[in-house]
Amino acid sequence: MMSHLQLLLLFLSGIASISQSAGREAPSNHLPTPVKAVNLGAWLVTEGWITPNLFDEIPVNKDLLDGTQIQLKSVTNNNYLSADNGGGSTIVASKSSASGWETFNLWRITETTFQFRVFNWQFLGLDDGGRLVATSTSSDDSNASHTFELVRNQEDPNRIRIKAPNGSFLEVNSDEFLIADYPEKTDWGNDDPSVFLMTNVRQLQGEFQVTNGYGPDKAKSAMTNHWNSFIVEEDFKFISENGLTAVRIPVGWWIKYDENPPRPFVGGSLQALDRAFSWAEKYGIKVIIDLQAAPGSQNVWDHSGTRDGSQSWGQSDDTIDQTVEVIDFLTSRYANRSALYAMELLNEPLAPGVALDRLEKYYGAAYEAVRKHSDVYVMMSNRLGISDTTELLHFAGNFSRSVIDVHYYNVFSSIFQGMTVQQNIDYVKKYHAASIQSLTIPNGPLVFVGEWVDEMEMRGASKEDYQRFGAAQLEVYGKATFGWAYWTLKNVQTNWSLEWMIQNGYINL
Ligand SMILES: *[C@@H]1O[C@H](CO)[C@@H](O)[C@H](O)[C@H]1NC(C)=O
Ligand SMILES: *[C@@H]1O[C@H](CO)[C@@H](O)[C@H](O)[C@H]1NC(C)=O
Ligand SMILES: *[C@@H]1O[C@H](CO)[C@@H](O)[C@H](O)[C@H]1NC(C)=O
Ligand SMILES: *[C@@H]1O[C@H](CO)[C@@H](O)[C@H](O)[C@H]1NC(C)=O
Ligand SMILES: *[C@@H]1O[C@H](CO)[C@@H](O)[C@H](O)[C@H]1NC(C)=O
Repeated sequence: MMSHLQLLLLFLSGIASISQSAGREAPSNHLPTPVKAVNLGAWLVTEGWITPNLFDEIPVNKDLLDGTQIQLKSVTNNNYLSADNGGGSTIVASKSSASGWETFNLWRITETTFQFRVFNWQFLGLDDGGRLVATSTSSDDSNASHTFELVRNQEDPNRIRIKAPNGSFLEVNSDEFLIADYPEKTDWGNDDPSVFLMTNVRQLQGEFQVTNGYGPDKAKSAMTNHWNSFIVEEDFKFISENGLTAVRIPVGWWIKYDENPPRPFVGGSLQALDRAFSWAEKYGIKVIIDLQAAPGSQNVWDHSGTRDGSQSWGQSDDTIDQTVEVIDFLTSRYANRSALYAMELLNEPLAPGVALDRLEKYYGAAYEAVRKHSDVYVMMSNRLGISDTTELLHFAGNFSRSVIDVHYYNVFSSIFQGMTVQQNIDYVKKYHAASIQSLTIPNGPLVFVGEWVDEMEMRGASKEDYQRFGAAQLEVYGKATFGWAYWTLKNVQTNWSLEWMIQNGYINL
């Protein structure tokens, strides 16, 4: 805890730094009323764990969407296929156990044809002798020389064969290489070197997966149905009647392209966002637009729009420039709407894939893009995967009406495993409170707890436990100068649905 003297010194040093910075745009120092917000998660950017039913009608191979990770074991030699050293050479069927080098990331080309990426992201293809190799880095859906057909056994769909680009099936030969020379005919027996056992290790369920899974003919209606039904006017009425003052709306970069986004994304989320503004204005709710998915993907999770779990946002200037254009477009479209309260430039960039200097370059340029149209608050999300949560503090302090967004979850990390309810509460009061305090400096950016949830790693907590944990978080996050936002309004997992938690008396605002 800081003493009053330390606080006073901090305050005085804040004043000193203002006078030193005379000539620069002086940060505004009147504090807003902190918002009590809720995220409209999984509405305009798909997250399948929140809305699993959205994937139900994908007609074929819905367990083999883009980014699915599979491992393959030969039935004849009982070994896993492996890209030794992570890729760059010949594939071998020689490993008795499977880990990263034995894991393949799918690109879904059609319902039954796929490209396979190895650990170091090369694509599978054949060499001149018809041998399976992982050497190509050319990423192109239409490159037939990377595209394999996956044929599943009728009775056991995890028993598969793979038809290579030259029309023959892959088989394991006596040297444990894979050669594309096996004929069509099979009895699927354990003596057939073209048969493999497939393990589905991990699936992604984001916007790329759902739209490409439905394919060009069905994606538009599936997504339109979802956008029209998942969040409706009634929800804004509920929000306004239950003590909430704002919504944080995650959007994907493809929203800028309106009706004609690059495939497989489909148009229509922009009209849904338009409706959200009208409802927000009708019920007196503020809107925070949150860029959740950026071109190239700023993190490895479903909600960054990634195709296969790779992360390349920020590595080239192109991705930064394109993202600035998205922010420019959205701000100019909504600048004259009274509900627009803040623009969040990028959600959860992940370190070390996103380097701090690249992120600051982007934040600076995107901030200017917002200011061309509007003086709304501008939010800069902290990087995840860092230990110093104040790394953006001084940078963000250069910009007036800036906000740092931090997310606090007592899940997703082994440190919370085995904690009791009281230990969870103590953790919030000690560490999250200290984190907020360390970010709160005179004339610095405002602080927003843009995501939190009344959920713990522990199972079997009682209703009263959830009430106590929720209340403790509300108390601590209530000190954040910009406010907080619950993740999320609606979720099949009831603990993660603020609507359910309010309706059932778990959370009272
Ligand atoms: C594919 O290539 C292999 C190796 O060169 C060859 O044995 C096989 O006949 C080829 N398949 C077809 C259908 O041409
Ligand atoms: C397809 O990939 C191969 C390498 O596997 C590469 O040599 C070729 O240039 C690519 N073709 C196209 C059209 O990109
Ligand atoms: C906002 O600007 C657009 C285009 O300039 C205009 O059509 C619209 O009526 C304006 N809306 C408000 C609420 O001022
Ligand atoms: C912001 O402030 C930091 C020091 O806190 C300084 O190094 C940086 O150059 C400044 N950036 C801008 C864009 O003003
Ligand atoms: C939260 O989820 C756990 C299991 O995942 C369950 O035991 C508990 O009842 C849930 N709590 C609420 C409030 O839904």
